[in-house]
Amino acid sequence: MKEKLQSEEGAGSVVKGLENVVVGTSRLSYIDGQRGRLAYRGFTIQDLAAEASYEEVAYLLWNGALPDREQLAALRSAFASEGVLPSEIHGLIRSAPRTKPPMEVLRTAVSALSLHDEEASDLALEANRRKAIRLTARVAGIVAATHRLQNGKEPLAPRADLSHAGSFLYCVTGALPDARRERMFDVALVLHADHGFNASTFAARVTAATLSDIYSAVTSAVGTLMGPLHGGANEKVIKMLLEVGEPSRVERYVREALSRRERIFGFGHRVYKVEDPRATVLRELSREAGELAGDLRWHEISRKLEEVLMREKGLFPNVDFYSAPFYHSLGLPSSLFVPVFAVSRIAGWTAHLLEQYADNRLIRPRSQYLGVPIGQPWVRLEER
Ligand code: ACO
Repeated sequence: MKEKLQSEEGAGSVVKGLENVVVGTSRLSYIDGQRGRLAYRGFTIQDLAAEASYEEVAYLLWNGALPDREQLAALRSAFASEGVLPSEIHGLIRSAPRTKPPMEVLRTAVSALSLHDEEASDLALEANRRKAIRLTARVAGIVAATHRLQNGKEPLAPRADLSHAGSFLYCVTGALPDARRERMFDVALVLHADHGFNASTFAARVTAATLSDIYSAVTSAVGTLMGPLHGGANEKVIKMLLEVGEPSRVERYVREALSRRERIFGFGHRVYKVEDPRATVLRELSREAGELAGDLRWHEISRKLEEVLMREKGLFPNVDFYSAPFYHSLGLPSSLFVPVFAVSRIAGWTAHLLEQYADNRLIRPRSQYLGVPIGQPWVRLEER
């Protein structure tokens, strides 16, 4: 029997992209998009950028309180020991085509990590806390090892005598970073560690809400972060800066791109209607790193882009904009820009997963049916 086109019974109205829909509670980060404010566990992002190390932020997100000296030292040493990858993961990275983006390798390797973790399917809080540390250490390890193996170099073991940021830079480059660059990179990790129910965090929580394990949830998150509308934007930004080449070419570049109705990556945000407070800090880091490198060109192109985008579209830069000239001036290859986001955000993802498991309910929204009327007459194969 044919029925009229209908919505699923009992479903509410559609909010495309879930804009402004509150889908759950969290004690982790506070975002005020109208005033440009962000805080993790009550600490403003400005204070954290000025004072905190990534290790302190990760501990804070997972445990709800700042670590004391002993707890901090224990976490740093756990990051170094847990960051040693199982040999099978090195094998998996070696087997990936060298031309593949490191995020694809990371997504696959995170999934494979569960095969080498006896606690993988243990959903108890303490087991998940241990896995949060392990995953944070290993995501950094995978990203660094992928970079080295894709460039014909052997992976390096993390160093307990360095910060997580410093150890990561060492594992990528094979050289000890100077204290200033180490701290600047540490600040970038602090800035990216958590951000409410962003797309990748939400994807992770949806997966965990089925009571699937933490590795499955983080695999979902990595896959979601890769997209150019989310974390994938920072790599697009550096491509754009290199293509523009000098500040005098910005006006024309933007005019032409906008006339083709293209998006300018690194601008606009679903939540912030004023400047993203992380962009304010990253703008300064971009300038500082440019000065250190003796080349302010990328920073200056970025400044000009910011000016033109504000004038033409009223758009503010987001977290992915100034991170690009910053990482570039720091000497990181562009293929690592998105993975570096994951190296930081893994703390936020896993903190959200601890929250989700502690107070879980299946996340299962509804859709509005727009298909053909129900009750279509079946046509046999021989009559089609
Ligand atoms: N360049 C050009 N126009 C833009 C941009 C941009 N970067 N961002 C938004 N707009 C315009 C849209 O074209 C649209 O205009 P229209 O109404 O005339 O069509 C309007 O602003 C609203 O855009 P939406 O896509 O509806 O806004 P939404 O909240 O869905 O998008 C998003 C947010 C995806 C971040 C968007 O601003 C964008 O695509 N930015 C570029 C990609 C990017 O930088 N992503 C990283 C975000 S930060 C992060 O995830 C870590």
